[in-house]
Amino acid sequence: MQDSKYIRLGLNIDHVATVRNARGGDSPDPLRAAELAEDAGVDGITAHLREDRRHIADADIDRLMDVLTVPLNFEMAATVEMRAIALRHKPHAVCLVPERREERTTEGGLDVVSEASRLSDFIAPLRDVGCRVSLFVAANVRQIDAAKQIGADVVELHSGAYCDAHNEGRFADRDHEFEAIKEMSAYADELDLEVHVGHGLTFGTAAAVAALPAVKELNIGHFLIGEAIFRGLKPAILEMRRIMDEARS
Ligand code: PXP
Repeated sequence: MQDSKYIRLGLNIDHVATVRNARGGDSPDPLRAAELAEDAGVDGITAHLREDRRHIADADIDRLMDVLTVPLNFEMAATVEMRAIALRHKPHAVCLVPERREERTTEGGLDVVSEASRLSDFIAPLRDVGCRVSLFVAANVRQIDAAKQIGADVVELHSGAYCDAHNEGRFADRDHEFEAIKEMSAYADELDLEVHVGHGLTFGTAAAVAALPAVKELNIGHFLIGEAIFRGLKPAILEMRRIMDEARS
């Protein structure tokens, strides 16, 4: 049983698949990483099946659905192809993200305001089969209002700009971006949207976000998979868990 102070940690395993795909073959196996992460106490696993299959593959999703004991957060673009895959698997959650072929990673949030009507129709069948629908958005009041209006269950606030500003020593920008996450997490929580935060989080940036009471989950990938090279995946996860718990207490 998780108390209201508890903040969940989801591990994104995409970049285990990135390393595997650099050579082809089966190693390192994202499923093995997911199992180790479960063992280390993560609360969920995220995998992003991109249109170009650059990291996670269809077979990875099949295997994760078969084996995982924690919820799978299936990250995907709002396309007909991806929705058919999600409807077949019925994962715990579907997180919709914008996707551009030429981007290195998910660079911005969804424009829910402009796409409200299409997204509203898009998510209805997913909600009908019991998937929680999460929308990856900027910490912006109009996007959050639109997410609520079309019936999303969750908003995941994009922390990329906050983390970039922190890493580049632009502290005024960092503080400005953090304020937006702080205010918008409280705003979304008041609207009864569950609030997650993700993108670019590290040991140095996660604590401030984890301390925000409205934030219920952090989703972290690239940094923890990279840190695993140096200290191992389990110790990296346990250190992040410690930082989050300390921030929350
Ligand atoms: N949340 C969402 C919606 C994402 O798209 C990503 C990146 O795929 C993450 C969290 C994790 O970001 P990072 O790999 O930078 O920790």
